[in-house]
Amino acid sequence: MQQQQQKKYNSSSNTPINTPPIEETLRGFEWFTYMRANSPVVYDQQLNIWHVFRYDDVYQVITDHHTFSSADVPNFSQNNFLKDTIVAQDPPDHRRLRQLTNQAFTRRAIISMTESIRQLTQELLDQLIPLGTMDIVSDLAFPLTCNLIAAMLEIPIQDRRLVYRWVKGVDSNTPLLSREDVIKSHNRMGQELYDYIAHILEKRRREPCEGFISALSTAMSNNAGLSDDELLKFCVLLLVAGQETVQNLITNAIYCFTKYPQSRDHLLQQPEHMPEAIEEILRYLPPFWVTVRRTTVDAVVGGKSIPANMIINAWNASANHDGQYFADPEHFDIRRDAKRHLSFGHGIHFCLGAPLARMEANIILPMLCKQLKNFRRIPDRSPDITAGPLHQILSLPIMFEA
Ligand code: HEM
Repeated sequence: MQQQQQKKYNSSSNTPINTPPIEETLRGFEWFTYMRANSPVVYDQQLNIWHVFRYDDVYQVITDHHTFSSADVPNFSQNNFLKDTIVAQDPPDHRRLRQLTNQAFTRRAIISMTESIRQLTQELLDQLIPLGTMDIVSDLAFPLTCNLIAAMLEIPIQDRRLVYRWVKGVDSNTPLLSREDVIKSHNRMGQELYDYIAHILEKRRREPCEGFISALSTAMSNNAGLSDDELLKFCVLLLVAGQETVQNLITNAIYCFTKYPQSRDHLLQQPEHMPEAIEEILRYLPPFWVTVRRTTVDAVVGGKSIPANMIINAWNASANHDGQYFADPEHFDIRRDAKRHLSFGHGIHFCLGAPLARMEANIILPMLCKQLKNFRRIPDRSPDITAGPLHQILSLPIMFEA
């Protein structure tokens, strides 16, 4: 069975690939392939939600914001700090917030991050390279992306450890026994971050600088009707939206490169292909698998009627593997044109941080490919990947020439 699957995944590739064993990652994709073919739009009675799997249907759900609302959806609605943010709003509030935040995410502000990204990556590499092995998640992707978001939020170096706590969303002294405990803990950490950024905002009003907080603060003072509360909650959202996603992108890239080392070698020879390779990594193994919406009226998706006020899981990860849009979708091919992937969403909520995330990956990945010489998996130490269709690599041990 496993051999047959391996053949299927690679049968139409032009280049011979060293087929790795079917791993946890592919299990979610096998489910998606099955669902796209057999139940592309389906009601899950147990959870009382709908699932949508095909590209066209996912695209419809995430793009038609009149019919599919982002307000009052699970995940955000129980978090005191996220429920009123841009990602959980519909127009007209969404439009107002997006205009404001666009003023901080300018090309100039993003480019001003270049040096910090390079420097923070190099600092970590200098510590790790002599060791010859590392866990790409806990040793590199997690601390690096925490430090990057901290730099963006103008959090001084001595306080960066606080960011690790906020990002994990848990106070490590308190055991989390139930879902309610987890929600309470997230809210407590959100409050700490909120209060902390409030101090930075106060300071930036007195002494403006080039960073995002100053840009947001200036945008606010130019726009009547926007509150400090909105700005502070937006910063909490940035930490949630901008850390784990990039951590996953970096980790997933290394996962793909260890699985298909010839792609890494190709990029070492032709580094100018890195931007397309990043799009293929985003398509093949998205950092963020599912987008949630609520129907505002009775709707029809893929020929199926969905009543009003239903929660829909629109599986971006499945859309990215839809053969209607991506030929031989289970084949990882850094030379394909993957730009139509839905990993950054689409429509009015299209990821505000996409240019930043792409720039971060375009700086960090070449540094890792070049400096972690011949990096590869450690035999007998498999990656730890979350079970089920919601995929996240929690641990990925690698070795390289020190
Ligand atoms: C590879 C990294 C990333 C991925 C895959 C990603 C993915 C996404 C997706 C799918 C959405 C749309 C959610 C929806 O439609 O409900 C989104 C929205 C958003 N992302 Fe990202 N994101 C990434 C990095 C970032 C970064 C680095 C930041 C900022 C530091 C960021 C900030 C945001 C914000 C503020 C929104 C809300 C936009 C809106 O609702 O108008 N993201 N992201």
